[in-house]
Amino acid sequence: MHTRITLTIVCAGLFALSACTKSADCPEPEVKAEDPVQRGQFMVTVGGCNDCHTPKNMTPQGPVPDMSRMLSGHPSGEPVAPYDKNTVGPWVLLSPGLTCAVGPWGTSFAANLTPSESGIGSWSEEQFVKALQEGKHMGMDNTRPIMPPMPWQEIGKFDVNDLKAIYAYLKSIPPVDNVVPAYMPPVQ
Ligand code: HEC
Repeated sequence: MHTRITLTIVCAGLFALSACTKSADCPEPEVKAEDPVQRGQFMVTVGGCNDCHTPKNMTPQGPVPDMSRMLSGHPSGEPVAPYDKNTVGPWVLLSPGLTCAVGPWGTSFAANLTPSESGIGSWSEEQFVKALQEGKHMGMDNTRPIMPPMPWQEIGKFDVNDLKAIYAYLKSIPPVDNVVPAYMPPVQ
């Protein structure tokens, strides 16, 4: 039964193809340019940006993104919990909300990606693309490298139009005022 239905669909498809050989017979395919904001939303979802850039609420099932603070980065009021510095190296530490990471590179805090002034509000599209393609903090020359675990090496390989779409989407989301703590070099 299942096979027959599949075969029927395949045959119908083949017939449609064969019936449509000359361009005059074929309806023009509707090429819809995807809205950059929608494309950006999709790329942010599949790119996992919320995993690190959205604060979480802790539940019995583990951390769940708090979408009322979507993509606003490490919360300013959340201090780095004390830790034994001898564990860093053999271990990499993550805060429960996954917005702060401690490793051999130092302590990094996921950035505020919302269009607030404390986020990317004053960033140009060019800066945004350069930050992700070249791993340069704020997309400027002569700035520090962007630190782990921000996966700019992979994200920077997205098609440039996708990076621009991500920028367009981030500019469209609600701004959340949150001054993320500055990166701290490793404790000696
Ligand atoms: C595994 C965690 C993680 C993921 C996933 C992640 N980020 Fe980040 N991101 C970070 C951290 C941590 C920082 C801060 C790095 C620093 O201060 O050097 C950061 C910083 C940034 C910055 C600011 C860089 C700068 O100039 O200082 C941008 C822009 C950014 N991320 C965009 C994105 C986008 C867009 C995505 C999804 C496509 C994404 N990130 C996914 C962890 C992550």
